[in-house]
Amino acid sequence: MAGSPENAMVLSSTADEDEKQRESRSKREIISTLPTEKAWKIQGLMYQYQGFWYYSGGAVEGVMWMQKCFKARNEDVLLVSFPKCGTTWLKSLMFSIMNRTRYDFSAHPLLTSSPHELVPFLEFYAEQNIPFPDLDTLSSPQLFHTHIAFTSLPQPVIDSQCRIVYICRNPKDVFVSSFCFLSRWNIVVPLEEAFELFCKGISVYGPFWDHVLGYWKASLASPQRILFLKYEDVKRDSLCQVKRLAEFMGFPFSSEEEGQGLIHEIMELCSFENLRNLKVNKTGAISVGNVSTGKDTFFRKGEVGDWKNHLTAEMADRIDRIMEEKLKGSGLTFSDSCDS
Ligand code: A3P
Repeated sequence: MAGSPENAMVLSSTADEDEKQRESRSKREIISTLPTEKAWKIQGLMYQYQGFWYYSGGAVEGVMWMQKCFKARNEDVLLVSFPKCGTTWLKSLMFSIMNRTRYDFSAHPLLTSSPHELVPFLEFYAEQNIPFPDLDTLSSPQLFHTHIAFTSLPQPVIDSQCRIVYICRNPKDVFVSSFCFLSRWNIVVPLEEAFELFCKGISVYGPFWDHVLGYWKASLASPQRILFLKYEDVKRDSLCQVKRLAEFMGFPFSSEEEGQGLIHEIMELCSFENLRNLKVNKTGAISVGNVSTGKDTFFRKGEVGDWKNHLTAEMADRIDRIMEEKLKGSGLTFSDSCDS
């Protein structure tokens, strides 16, 4: 089954137990030398690895393991996102597009499984040290997800022809969504403190601007390999963006499929309202990295511009100025309200 968690790991690991222990020791040694900063979590540190920030206790190890072991095949598709930019939505859309001839909408896997169970998060599998099936035993193509920065992508991904879909979002909503997500666990520092850290570039997989610019520039240089999407565009013009996504992934809709209303059916299946109200997404927990979170935490408001309910005018202005400076000359801009 394309994109299933069972089959979706194309990672190789032949290391025996001793070698694993040696590797883990050497990772710990590297990590102990990394720059650290205070995390958004009340207790805890973040580590800077290859220019990006990660929580302690798994994420850095996950990235390192991916860099060592992950292999993508030319036909595979990799979804990359900055956290809280619409990963859940894109996982649902991409899974539905890729597997549309396999399932009837009345018995679709999205009705009984969380999108996060259907499209695996690579760092998580790496963090959990789960053995990965042999590449040759997996059907092709496969769909994977990672939050990894462009400059940290495993070399086999760069060298392959696999397609990469990157989703990002306006930074004010990203900040608010991230803060609200962590708030659900009652472990987050006050909003003002988290805001200061975000503005300094310190957030999970941050700095935000370096993450988005990495994929933005790569998408301009290799548009056939990297599709750069914005949450706001998918919200505003879902039909056009879903068609574009399917074409890019190598699964274009035929005019017959369009005529049958298949794109609309996929959009409806993957809509915020539909997914949020499914029992499977309202109850139970799921592991993300080394923590467990309620499946419902991935569905909060699903709106553009909710930052207005959380940030002061000064805070908004400050992020705008930072983005102006950081993105200057790149051609990348964000719209951060429903009307723009
Ligand atoms: P909000 O917190 O602003 O509501 P991620 O999936 O990358 O963690 O991003 C989570 C954000 O995407 C949350 O934003 C969540 O509500 C929103 N989201 C989840 N599913 C969605 C969907 N089907 N359509 C639109 N937005 C969705």
